[in-house]
Amino acid sequence: SASFSIFPKEHPKKLMTCNEWDGLPKLPVPPLQQTLDMYLKCMGHLIPEEQFKKTKVVVEKFGAPGGMGEFLQKKLLERSEHTANWVYDYWLEDMYLSNRLALPVNSSPVMVFPKQNFRSQSDSLRFAAHLISGILEYKSLIDGRALPVDYARGQLAGTPLCMDQYNKVFTSYRLPGAKMDTLVAQKSTVMPEREHIIVACKNQFFVLDVVINFRRLNEKDLYTQLERIKKMSDIEEERLPPIGLLTSDGRTQWAEARSVLIKDSTNRDSLDMIERCLCLVCLDEPSGTEQTDTNRALLMLHGGGTDKNGGNRWYDKPMQFVIGADGCCGVVCEHSPFEGIVLVQCTEYLLRYMRGSPSKLVRAASMSELPAPRRLRWKCSPDIQTFLMASADKLQRLVKNLDMNVSKFTGYGKEFIKKQKMSPDAYVQVALQLTFYRCHGRLVPTYESASIRRFQEGRVDNIRSSTPEALAFVKAMGNSSKITVCSLKIELLWTAIKAQTNYTILAITGMAIDNHLLGLREIAKELKLEKPELFSDTTYATSIHFILSTSQVPTIEEMFCCYGPVVPNGYGACYNPQMDHIIFCVSSFRDSAETSSDLFVKTLEGCLKEMQDLCIKCNTEAKPADSTKRMDGTTKVMKNGSKA
Ligand code: COA
Repeated sequence: SASFSIFPKEHPKKLMTCNEWDGLPKLPVPPLQQTLDMYLKCMGHLIPEEQFKKTKVVVEKFGAPGGMGEFLQKKLLERSEHTANWVYDYWLEDMYLSNRLALPVNSSPVMVFPKQNFRSQSDSLRFAAHLISGILEYKSLIDGRALPVDYARGQLAGTPLCMDQYNKVFTSYRLPGAKMDTLVAQKSTVMPEREHIIVACKNQFFVLDVVINFRRLNEKDLYTQLERIKKMSDIEEERLPPIGLLTSDGRTQWAEARSVLIKDSTNRDSLDMIERCLCLVCLDEPSGTEQTDTNRALLMLHGGGTDKNGGNRWYDKPMQFVIGADGCCGVVCEHSPFEGIVLVQCTEYLLRYMRGSPSKLVRAASMSELPAPRRLRWKCSPDIQTFLMASADKLQRLVKNLDMNVSKFTGYGKEFIKKQKMSPDAYVQVALQLTFYRCHGRLVPTYESASIRRFQEGRVDNIRSSTPEALAFVKAMGNSSKITVCSLKIELLWTAIKAQTNYTILAITGMAIDNHLLGLREIAKELKLEKPELFSDTTYATSIHFILSTSQVPTIEEMFCCYGPVVPNGYGACYNPQMDHIIFCVSSFRDSAETSSDLFVKTLEGCLKEMQDLCIKCNTEAKPADSTKRMDGTTKVMKNGSKA
């Protein structure tokens, strides 16, 4: 309708023109010395003194005039001249494609929708048909380059962001490989192609054509087809083994199983259909567990294991929309083609679409002339059965191992923090540091994703939040004796917040150290040079073992994002700050005796309250919001990019 828009109000309704974002600046290569100095600054307080002394020598040698560092830096600068983004391929391989861990929990983030109230099976199928209509609508916006351009918000707001990631949402596939995976991208065609979705139901996979004879199926047709699929999945005699389980295994194991699977032409055809689909729609069975936020997050992350919906997935595909008969719904996302922020934009569009354009379904399904959906067939040799058993076993262990806590902190939200004249994101990061310190008595290398979409083909770099300034603050807060007075604590909090904010600004302007160090390491490898000592040093290994892996994923719609830890003894901490509350999703592994998600969250709540008390008592900067001058020395930049 004319007045209804499914884009949020504050979104500039500007259409994406190719040149606008193709014309974004290239990601800069930071100065070598700056990166090396920062590396030392980031690690000095996190490792033993003796080790640090050695590392300092190694770093100085690397950075010496005429040394290895200068040579590699020159090579990187050359590389940046003839690529759109000098780090993109290195980063993609390092972050995702060469990672051998299973995708569920270890790599694939999920969005969890509010619990839906389906009264019957037809309710959930209606929901699915409506959702698929939205997906097709969204896909046509992407294809027509008609999505509004995203603009940076928060720090350094106002600049347009690279829209490249959107093109990969429905067109890519992560192919497992023996040593490394490949991110396959389908070429876009001008001609309206036959398009299909794969519907997973009772561990069976069905091809749902969504464009037939150049016509996109309407919601009624989609519903009819989904009903047919549901019926087909009920026929017990026709059930095939849960092949999807193979995709939940480690990448090398899945690659091996796949190489056996494709020897048979039936399997090859089925794989081909899945690899070329737009996305999966997983119609899940009721899980039988209480639908708390934490349980829904768990079910989204791993499907609840083999006896629940663990086999009703195909993890290589970027978008899997899960619709549980019991109302547990969300999206499972293969992370390599795009970031969580793009996932949020897409799912928010869909939820708004579903709310704003009422279902066009009449109660009864239409009698349809459409060809019946097709079940994908599998020929399972004894070898494949063996692989399946191993994959099932692996998934069960993963399910048992994941320790998750989703919690809504209702004490306060962004509004309170802004009134303190502090960056909400920096504040939350400092709170996470304080929490980790309280739980473990030390700080550890921390990852916070920072978007670098201001640059061509930009993905993310890392904000190393465990700054020396954060350590000084958390130590002062840990001191229960009255010696550390309020005024000193607030001063240390301010210093920590400023350090965090400055690092954030460096990262989003392409000046952080992680991508740069990775680039130097990889270009040396590419040139077949001996590995520089900097990268074989223990400190380097420690620096990239991210015990705390964090990410801000804010949403407008009611939903939340979560993911697992990235190392066995670590935490994943995803947060969604809202005006008056913050949702935290904390994950860890039960195998690790060091970690506990419940304890972490409980401690975090205490820390947030203490920091609030401290601010209320001592933050003289907190005035009613009229001033634009901030304590961190930056000036508020308005959304249109002008300085206030
Ligand atoms: N005083 C008052 N207000 C302040 C302030 C201060 N000192 N500093 C910031 N604010 C305001 C901002 O203007 C902004 O206002 P808005 O709500 O009107 O937009 C708000 O507080 C939030 O800003 P801030 O908390 O500083 O963070 P941010 O939004 O700039 O986010 C990052 C920081 C690093 C999270 C962001 O830049 C980023 O990179 N996000 C992407 C992360 C990502 O990729 N996640 C997914 C990974 S899969």
